[in-house]
Amino acid sequence: MTNDNNTILIVDDQQEILNSLRRIFQREYNVLTASDGNEGLQLLQQNQVKVILSDQRMPGMDGVTFLKKANEIQSQAVRIMITGYADIEASINAVNEAKIYQYVSKPFEPDELKLVVKSAVDRFNLAKKNEELKHKLQEQNEILQKENTDLKSQFSQQLDLGNFIGYSAPMQRVFKLVKKVMNTPTTVLLLGETGTGKEMLAKMIHYNSNRSNKVFVVQNCGAIPDTLLQSELFGHVKGAFTGALKDKKGLFEQADTGTIFLDEIGDTSQALQLGLLRVLQEGEIKPVGGTQTKKVDVRVIAATNRDLITDVAEGRFREDLYYRLNVFPIVIPPLRQRKEDIPDLVNFFVKKYSQRINKNITGVSQNVLSCFTNANFPGNVRELENEIERMVTLADENTTIGTDIISDRFLKEHKETDNVMEYSQLKPAIEKVEKALISKALMQTSGNILKAAEQLGVSRVGLHKMLNRYEINAADFKNNN
Ligand SMILES: Nc1ncnc2c1ncn2[C@@H]1O[C@H](COP(=O)(O)OP(=O)(O)OP(=O)(O)O)[C@@H](O)[C@H]1O
Ligand SMILES: [Mg+2]
Repeated sequence: MTNDNNTILIVDDQQEILNSLRRIFQREYNVLTASDGNEGLQLLQQNQVKVILSDQRMPGMDGVTFLKKANEIQSQAVRIMITGYADIEASINAVNEAKIYQYVSKPFEPDELKLVVKSAVDRFNLAKKNEELKHKLQEQNEILQKENTDLKSQFSQQLDLGNFIGYSAPMQRVFKLVKKVMNTPTTVLLLGETGTGKEMLAKMIHYNSNRSNKVFVVQNCGAIPDTLLQSELFGHVKGAFTGALKDKKGLFEQADTGTIFLDEIGDTSQALQLGLLRVLQEGEIKPVGGTQTKKVDVRVIAATNRDLITDVAEGRFREDLYYRLNVFPIVIPPLRQRKEDIPDLVNFFVKKYSQRINKNITGVSQNVLSCFTNANFPGNVRELENEIERMVTLADENTTIGTDIISDRFLKEHKETDNVMEYSQLKPAIEKVEKALISKALMQTSGNILKAAEQLGVSRVGLHKMLNRYEINAADFKNNN
């Protein structure tokens, strides 16, 4: 099909009319003419036209019939009929079906006809533009949608690698386990002291699993009274207790096909433990006050910082439930057993909190870092995170955070001897000793590199190299801060 930009088709059985119309339009348009409907339809099969001008009274196929068929071939072409009003009224239905844009009554004025055709061409062009815009919009939409899913998958990757800090060997072992269990429906039990990242890891497991686009719900089992917790988790039926005015769906039903994270699982009552056993064993829940059980498909991740084995031994925790939960335990080691992670965590949190309040902070001083690596962190990563949030808030713009604003408890611990034996590998332990001795020498010499090098028994160049390697800034020690 030829794709002429400005083609109009004229159909009339009278040759002299065709000739005069051609003369009127040929300067502005590429004019095709046909002397009957069939010839007109043939031309439409081969040429794209913007406007069709047709006579109504023609032997064989009349104008309305022709325009109706034309509509089936090129619906975009704008249709104009040249006719007497009497003819229109006689066949108004057929005229509607042919979707005629305008009628021109005979005899027509050439100028009037020119105007009509011009506005029909404009109409065609507008419709075409509209169509193109719609297309473009749709394309844009598709691109946006794709970007959206890309972002989503980037987000899960971020959870996988970026946000969860842990290059130390013990954390790498944790990640290995996580990767193994991630895409299974297996129940996972996360064990670890407070603040070690159990909840964060539970999220990471869910958002990297094949359930990632399903619901992830969290329930802290230690925070609310037992009866309420039962109804939260398993739902209740109307009238189960005072105030149960209608049936309520529990979290297990809401999380169907998704994941539920049960925090502080060790704090649950015997009654609730029985309900949990039913879910884990049969994949069923029974709403409070109900008699019917319901099937659910929920991946359970549980966590506790309690010693469940002792709880089992002392009769506080059902042994059968313990075994159901303990299918795939993952122990997150306390921060004091993976001090290699501290510098990364510090950098991560400094960035996080300084960006949050839009304050430029260049980092923390070597002294602050050694305070942290010497600390015990009973509150683990959460404690470190809170301390850094506090220091970033206190720190002046464009500075490196020094020990002048560190909490006292870290300073005190800093003075106690550091135990290098906590490291399992030689390299980080040696680095630690080197860093500590360099920091000590710089502190004692108020940041004088020459004197510190003498004290350490190394050359000035040698000390410089080490300072660079460990990113220690001698100037930080000038005021002994
Ligand atoms: N490896 C890590 N990398 C980055 N942030 C971490 C890491 N571990 C923990 N965090 C942060 O520390 C805080 C505490 O983590 P989380 O709430 O997951 O700990 P938890 O083990 O569930 O603690 P609790 O037992 O007290 O509930 C959170 O703000 C979390 O984002
Ligand atoms: Mg938690």
